[in-house]
Amino acid sequence: MEAEDRPAPDAAAPVRSVPPDWAALRRAADAAAARAYAPYSGLRVGAAGLCEDGQTVVGANVENASFGLTLCAECSLVSAAVTGGHGRLLAVTVSAGDGAPLAPCGRCRQLLYEHGGPRLLIDGGTGTAPQALADLLPGAFDAEALATRRQENAP
Ligand code: THU
Repeated sequence: MEAEDRPAPDAAAPVRSVPPDWAALRRAADAAAARAYAPYSGLRVGAAGLCEDGQTVVGANVENASFGLTLCAECSLVSAAVTGGHGRLLAVTVSAGDGAPLAPCGRCRQLLYEHGGPRLLIDGGTGTAPQALADLLPGAFDAEALATRRQENAP
């Protein structure tokens, strides 16, 4: 595995001292939600995230006639962060375009954990403190747990 492909341990992730501009992230998520492809559910979802390089990435849900193949907005967001080389996610907001943040689904909490770790901040909405992802996904199974268990179970 190349060094840049290896999952970064969260302890090594730099902590940005500048607080995220949640209003700007919400605007970006709303704009992404407007570009969603959601003809089946009718729920247009957008996501915006601040990355450790200071860039903002966005994503929107992309549905499919075979419902199970639907991509959540957070999937697109993670894909944009990785393919753009923007580093780990520091703060994320998910929006259905109605002004209130949408709680990331269980699968997306796991996806976000891989690329933001337990300290990734998830928008709680105006007047509500953001939540750390560790509080939304306690006891997460992560790269470290995988490595440990593989060693333990090695023949
Ligand atoms: N959806 C997301 O994009 N993110 C979530 O965290 C929850 C659900 C999308 C998937 C589907 O296109 C629609 O919302 C209805 O479930």
